Amino acid sequence: MRLDKFVCKSTALTRIQATAMITDGCVVVNSDVVCDVATQVHEDNHISLNGETLTARASRYILLHKPADTICSNIDEAYPSLFNYIDVENAAELHVAGRLDADTTGLVLVTDDGRWSFNIITPTKHCQKVYRVGLSRPISDDVAAKFAHGVQLQGEQQLTRPAILETVTPKEVLLTITEGKFHQVKRMFAAVGNRVVSLHREQIGAIQLDVEVGLWRYLTDSEVNSFINIAESKTS
Ligand code: URA
Repeated sequence: MRLDKFVCKSTALTRIQATAMITDGCVVVNSDVVCDVATQVHEDNHISLNGETLTARASRYILLHKPADTICSNIDEAYPSLFNYIDVENAAELHVAGRLDADTTGLVLVTDDGRWSFNIITPTKHCQKVYRVGLSRPISDDVAAKFAHGVQLQGEQQLTRPAILETVTPKEVLLTITEGKFHQVKRMFAAVGNRVVSLHREQIGAIQLDVEVGLWRYLTDSEVNSFINIAESKTS
């Protein structure tokens, strides 16, 4: 990780304060003074600030049940940020691994470990996400086959990756996709002449939503490890 991030993760300093300390020559990495904030460091390096050894805080992995009318950015905008629901220290260091639209509810994974979230959001990792979708019209019989083959979304060059559609009721389906293009689910149903009226994410990889709306919990070690070393596919 970058040196400025490491200093933030191991102290109570803000990014601006950490930058000032580094550029002032207060930080030593393996016996060299390092003034470049972008220097890549590893937790095995010996890093000190004004002579005090720094140890990075352990990474955090959180599951949250996102309420409707919240957004996945770290600050409030047109809607309040979902980070208002997560009462942990240094929440500014956290990010969402796979954003949802403001009106979408359900499972969100939140972390400060960018290498871990890469396994969830990178298209070539093909991490499965399951959505419960409410539709404006009854689902047509041919949609499951169309989604299994891939559909053309407006403005995209390639078909969507094969997706699995299960019908719950004529106007409610479960959709499993392995990519996360902008408004993907809504655009997939628009591409087959339907319209999404409610959208709720139930599962990411092996992790299922199991807390009430607005609540969160830390992931277990086995849940965290379930995303590590997901084989990367050559097809995108
Ligand atoms: N697809 C969408 O259209 N919206 C979401 O929030 C998630 C997936």
